[in-house]
Amino acid sequence: MPETPSSTGPLSALRLEERLRDTGFFLNQALRTFNATGSVVPSSPALARAMAEHVRRRPDPEQPLRIMEVGAGTGAITRGIAEAMGPGDTVDLVESNVEFATHLERLLATDPQLAPVADRASVHAELVHEMGTDRTYDVIVSGLPFANFTAEDVKGILQYYFEVLEPGGYLSFYGYLYTKEVKAVIARRADYLRQARTSWVVREWIDRYGVRSDKVFANVPPAFVHHLRKPVGESSS
Ligand SMILES: C[S@@+](CC[C@H](N)C(=O)[O-])C[C@H]1O[C@@H](n2cnc3c(N)ncnc32)[C@H](O)[C@@H]1O
Repeated sequence: MPETPSSTGPLSALRLEERLRDTGFFLNQALRTFNATGSVVPSSPALARAMAEHVRRRPDPEQPLRIMEVGAGTGAITRGIAEAMGPGDTVDLVESNVEFATHLERLLATDPQLAPVADRASVHAELVHEMGTDRTYDVIVSGLPFANFTAEDVKGILQYYFEVLEPGGYLSFYGYLYTKEVKAVIARRADYLRQARTSWVVREWIDRYGVRSDKVFANVPPAFVHHLRKPVGESSS
């Protein structure tokens, strides 16, 4: 009889230990670079699953997907993507923090959920706009903390995503619930206004291309996942 993996066995204890180590490392980096990191703990498995929706729900099961994950951090969402990847899929993991990128390389060699896709994954220790436009993608999964960026930066990044997305391709990203309300109370006026302008840009893109938004409460903090689709009639660069 095949062995059923136990939720209390040595493998699960190892995973818990790895997650705690990742969380400590993430917090350490967040304290040094909060603006770019944008949260103090990695995303939850529930958020990772929601973000990987369009890797899992593919239009043609026979057609391999080219995937880009931006802001991969300590691989929390990468694990959700890896679980949903088919045998021919490839993924570019873009992460501007060199320490996170080095950690991701190590995880691809050792992590039980990431090692199975290691031969089809490449880590790019770069800012997303440095990736260039010579490759295109079927699915882009973005973990960038838009709420910390300026409206101009977010517009530039969204334009870049839509330039390298194939027509009919999907972009998934998340934002935290209640950020605006919290900022209204605690942020300085200039920062509140900056974030309001950023959220207008994000809203404009969701209104134009959004196909679905889901709330994920099982995350710290709870999040909204937005899925956008590039129209089939729009060509890539
Ligand atoms: C909110 S964290 C998300 C980390 C991970 N995906 C998760 O969900 O736990 C955002 C990540 O984006 C990275 N980042 C920020 N700006 C970036 C940029 N312009 N290009 C690539 N990565 C960036 C940060 O270093 C950080 O690891």
